[in-house]
Amino acid sequence: MTETPRAQRFTDRRVVVTGAAGGLGKVVADLFRAEGARVVATDVAVAEGVVACDLSDDVARDAFVADSLAELGGLDVLCNVAGILKFSPLPVMSAELLRKHYEVNALAPLMLAKGFSEALIESTGNIVSVASISSVMGQPYNVAYCSSKAALLLGMRALAIEFGAHKVRVNCVSPGGIETPMTGNAATGLPEDVNWEWIAKSQSVIPGFMPPQDVAESLLFLASDAAASITGANLVVDRGTVW
Ligand SMILES: NC(=O)c1ccc[n+]([C@@H]2O[C@H](COP(=O)([O-])OP(=O)(O)OC[C@H]3O[C@@H](n4cnc5c(N)ncnc54)[C@H](O)[C@@H]3O)[C@@H](O)[C@H]2O)c1
Repeated sequence: MTETPRAQRFTDRRVVVTGAAGGLGKVVADLFRAEGARVVATDVAVAEGVVACDLSDDVARDAFVADSLAELGGLDVLCNVAGILKFSPLPVMSAELLRKHYEVNALAPLMLAKGFSEALIESTGNIVSVASISSVMGQPYNVAYCSSKAALLLGMRALAIEFGAHKVRVNCVSPGGIETPMTGNAATGLPEDVNWEWIAKSQSVIPGFMPPQDVAESLLFLASDAAASITGANLVVDRGTVW
């Protein structure tokens, strides 16, 4: 089967993609490369072509920023994809679980934005971050994830204002269910007596989980020059779940 050639919207653009060993992040990194970008891909998990870094570790994250800037010579796009999700009913939800969600899902992408800020101002680049429909709707047994993604979304919107004067754009994509390892693992460990009717309320009007490419395409759109006048936005890509 011959593949349709891609548009080459990112020729020689310098891009950092986090979560690049994961279901969505790998596709995002591959698509940026397929459109001509020079990509530094990172993840806490070991994978080929991926720089290992625990982004919740302040020292490791700062070192990753410095190393990426040295390798790329600047930055045009920061693409925050890394994230964690573990359902937990309130009686068993721990401070550790809550803290880890905040560190990975909110603190790390916001501190990466700070770390790369001078380079992004220099290039008038942009930031695209993966939030979630869980940032705009409550979900049962999902306090940690929902609150962490809401913090990410509003944090990025606040940054869009500060960066606006420098013409650096900051946007989020909020996906519904994607076919990735995260979706399969999220509910493991939930007790049998949870209310599955509540959980079912997060189903989409177009049935089924989305292939990662459907979400990746929206990230690339927001990172591209076609979105030159879009900042502070939250593009919901969810087959009709939030309505
Ligand atoms: N899968 C879904 O249905 C869904 C829906 C909405 C939003 N999202 C979001 O999409 C993004 C990608 O998720 P995915 O579905 O590809 O899941 P995934 O689990 O396949 O990928 C997430 C990646 O993040 C990495 N990661 C976790 N902790 C990290 C850390 N401390 N430092 C660096 N990397 C770390 C993981 O190793 C993993 O490779 C996440 O932000 C997730 O919250 C996913």
